[in-house]
Amino acid sequence: MTNPLLTVDGLRVTFPVRGSLRRNRFVAVEGASLTVEENEIVAVVGESGSGKTTVARCVVGLQRADAGVMTFGGSPLPARRTPELRRAIQMVFQDPRSSLNPRMQVGAIVDEAWCMHPSVAPPGPRADAIVAALADVGLEPDVADRYPAQLSGGQCQRVSLARALALEPRLIVCDEAVSALDVSVQAQVLRLLIELRTTRRLSMLFISHDLGVVHQIADRVVVMRAGRIVEEGTADEVFSAPGHEYTKALLDAALELNDLGT
Ligand SMILES: Nc1ncnc2c1ncn2[C@@H]1O[C@H](COP(=O)(O)OP(=O)(O)OP(=O)(O)O)[C@@H](O)[C@H]1O
Ligand SMILES: [Mg+2]
Repeated sequence: MTNPLLTVDGLRVTFPVRGSLRRNRFVAVEGASLTVEENEIVAVVGESGSGKTTVARCVVGLQRADAGVMTFGGSPLPARRTPELRRAIQMVFQDPRSSLNPRMQVGAIVDEAWCMHPSVAPPGPRADAIVAALADVGLEPDVADRYPAQLSGGQCQRVSLARALALEPRLIVCDEAVSALDVSVQAQVLRLLIELRTTRRLSMLFISHDLGVVHQIADRVVVMRAGRIVEEGTADEVFSAPGHEYTKALLDAALELNDLGT
């Protein structure tokens, strides 16, 4: 029995072509359909410009689609999101530093999330709740008093996750969330995400161009090329027996990069 949390059906997104006389539009995403089940991690992979971020932005409501239907928890996802939907679907971005307000201490960053969504704000003293939220992502209490510039990239990404998790989301959309981190920190954050999936019963849409990372974390993989989904399957299916030429080429390119690294 499947239990879809998110469904995306026939998504189409176009952008105006700058400087074009006839108001031409560039098709960034065409007919993209995917589902994320409860407690499932679905990866979206594809080369740069294939439309991954555009799909992610539509799911979290940052980008309007030209066509397509999305549902969340069995109900249609409206273009204008209710506060409840904005809370339930959280996004974690690639660059951990620029997605945190540099003028706010970490504790205030987490607290602000609760101020914006009082329905999930903790009842007791905020300071204790902030320490607990930081502990959930492996950060020490003293991090609460620091500014983002005083943290490493990996710590910043943990703060982004703490802020997202503080809102008790059902779905986390990670757009290249570990790409900016060096390999050992990347592994730590991936382990944390895998652990959180179990402890928080989270679902994730995990966008990445790094197939090695995707193989470690994803249950299912969706492959995008030039705005379209060209292949979909379990991570093992897609990696051990890619059905589409483009997926094979992506895998070959990833293997070559690995060879360069050794
Ligand atoms: N706001 C925008 N205006 C115009 N074109 C855009 C806009 N956002 C994205 N595009 C174009 O849409 C296409 C898909 O972009 P998108 O950012 O979704 O790709 P991506 O797969 O996330 O790439 P990357 O791996 O480099 O992050 C690209 O050709 C991009 O230039
Ligand atoms: Mg992108």
